[in-house]
Amino acid sequence: MRYMAAETIDLEEFAAKARAGLDAATDEAALESWRVAHLGRKGTLTSVLRKLGSLEMDERRRIGGEANKLKNELEAALKAKLSDLHGQRIATTIQEGQIDVTLPGRSKRVGRLHPITQTVRQIVDIFVSLGFSVAEGPEVETDYYNFEALLLGRDHPARDMQDTLYIDFVRDGVYPFMMRTHTSPNQVRFMEKHQPPIRVVVPGKCYRNEATDPTHEWMITQIEVLAVDEGISLADLKGTLFEFAKRMFGQERKVRFRCDYFPYVEPGVDMAIDCFLCNGKGCRTCHQEGWIEIMGAGMVHPKILTNMGYDADRVTGFAAGMGAERIALLLHGIEDIRRFYQNDLRFLEQF
Ligand code: DAH
Repeated sequence: MRYMAAETIDLEEFAAKARAGLDAATDEAALESWRVAHLGRKGTLTSVLRKLGSLEMDERRRIGGEANKLKNELEAALKAKLSDLHGQRIATTIQEGQIDVTLPGRSKRVGRLHPITQTVRQIVDIFVSLGFSVAEGPEVETDYYNFEALLLGRDHPARDMQDTLYIDFVRDGVYPFMMRTHTSPNQVRFMEKHQPPIRVVVPGKCYRNEATDPTHEWMITQIEVLAVDEGISLADLKGTLFEFAKRMFGQERKVRFRCDYFPYVEPGVDMAIDCFLCNGKGCRTCHQEGWIEIMGAGMVHPKILTNMGYDADRVTGFAAGMGAERIALLLHGIEDIRRFYQNDLRFLEQF
C-alpha cells in the first residue's frame, strides 16, 4: 500500500519569489548570490526538485516538467541580465574615453606554406589523382640503401656525382651513414615491405656536396615515383609522366624522352618538356634550347626486382625522380635556387 504524498509543492510561489529576486538584482555580485540562492546546488529550485520523489507518479511528472521549464526560463533571464551588464560596462568605458575605438586594429600575421611545400603538394596531388599512394623514408640513410641496393657499388663512378654529408661514425673502415643524396633508396625500402602491384610516390629532402650557384643547392627536395606490376612497360612510364607534365605545366605541353644512364634502371631516360614560356622557340629560361629537362626515369632494373624477391620474368616496373626546387623555379620564373632557403620574407611572402 502506498502512502499519499505528505507535501505538495507550490511552484507558483517559488517562481514569483525567484522572478522578483532577479528583478531586484542590479549588479554582478547581486546576480551571483541570486544564482547561488535559487539555482545553485543547494538552491531553492534544487530542493524543490529533490522533493519530487515523494509525489504521486502523475503529480511528479507534471510538476517535474514545470520545474524544468522554470529552470530554463530563469537561467535564460540570468544570462540576458549578465550580458546587458557587460554591454553597459563597455559602453561606459568607451564614453569615458578609456577605449579609443577609432584606432586602427592590430592585424594578425598570417603564415603560409613555403613555396617548395606548395610545389611538392601540387606534384604529389597529381600522382594521387592518378592512383598513387604516398610514403616517406629517412633522411639519414645507409650506404646500402642510398647506393649499394641501387647497384651503385663502392667504386661505381656514378657515385662521384652524389657526394654528400656523412655521419661521423666509422665501421669496418667505412662511413655507413649519410644524408641521402636522392629519394631513390625508397624504391628499395618500399619494395622490401610490399608486394606488387605497387604505385607510390615518395617526397623528401636530399643532400649533396655542392658548390652552390643559381642552379645548385646543397639541400634539395625530390619526389620519387615507383610503379611495379605485371606487364608494366615503357609505354606506361611515358603515358603516366606525360599526363603528369600536362597537369603540372599545361595541357598543350609536349614531352621528349632521351636515353640516359642511371645504374638502377634499364633502359634509363631523361624527360624534358617543351619550354612553356616560349613554346619551344628558345628563350632565356630554356637556354635557347626549347626543351627543359625535368626528371630522370627508367624501367626498374631486373636485378633489383630479383633482389626484392620478385619474379622478374613476371613483374616489371618504372621509376622516376624529380627535383621540386627545379620545378618551382620554372613555374614561378625564379632566377636563383638559393632564395628558397635564405629565409627572406620579402621573397617567401610572394607565394
Ligand atoms: N635519383 C636520380 C637523381 O637523383 C633521379 C632518378 C633517375 C630517379 C632515374 C629515378 C630514376 O627513379 O629511374 O638524379
